[in-house]
Amino acid sequence: MTARLVVLASGSGSNLQAIVDACGSRCPGVPPRLAAEVVGVVCDQPAAFALERAVAAGVPGVCIPRQPGETRAEYDVRLAAGVAGLDPDWVVLAGFMRVLSRVFLDRFPARVVNLHPALPGQLPGVRAIERAYDEWLGGYRTHSGVMVHLVPDEGVDDGPVLAADTVPFHPGDSLHDFAQRMHQAEHRLLVDTLITLTKETAR
Ligand code: GAR
Repeated sequence: MTARLVVLASGSGSNLQAIVDACGSRCPGVPPRLAAEVVGVVCDQPAAFALERAVAAGVPGVCIPRQPGETRAEYDVRLAAGVAGLDPDWVVLAGFMRVLSRVFLDRFPARVVNLHPALPGQLPGVRAIERAYDEWLGGYRTHSGVMVHLVPDEGVDDGPVLAADTVPFHPGDSLHDFAQRMHQAEHRLLVDTLITLTKETAR
């Protein structure tokens, strides 16, 4: 059976695009690499380009922004209800820039996966690519990397690691060069991890 994926995103959605592309057949008669369907895209930012990618891919996209005065728990209840309505096998955080509370996570136990542009235990939070680049310029690191992990609790970019890959710096790298290599690595790693997960949990 085809796994149902709900992708949560806040921005550009290039990782959403990688997932959508992997779910599609590249030529007639050839099965897609990823035997899954993106059944919904949920954004917290109305201007997220990920919503336009959803429209272009023919996937239902919805924006659920946090309302003024709404507590984090109230928001997470509403967000969880929106996601649960899509009946996901996997909830994929692909650039979703909010820390989800237990209120959300407990509705999808061991079913929430996060992508982060750093190696396990390193550079949690925002701007991890820029911070790694600054550390390389300062002579403090030779490489960074990308990881996909389960989200069991409210730890930031932390949880049981499903896959990780190293991305080296190259002499003369601009931030743009390095960021491009990181994004390529995360598109690859996220899709490969979902291929493995969806095979293991086929309904
Ligand atoms: C990606 O680099 C992802 O790893 C990062 O946000 C970017 C989203 O890009 N996530 C985090 O930093 C999570 N802490 P995209 O919108 O083009 O997929």
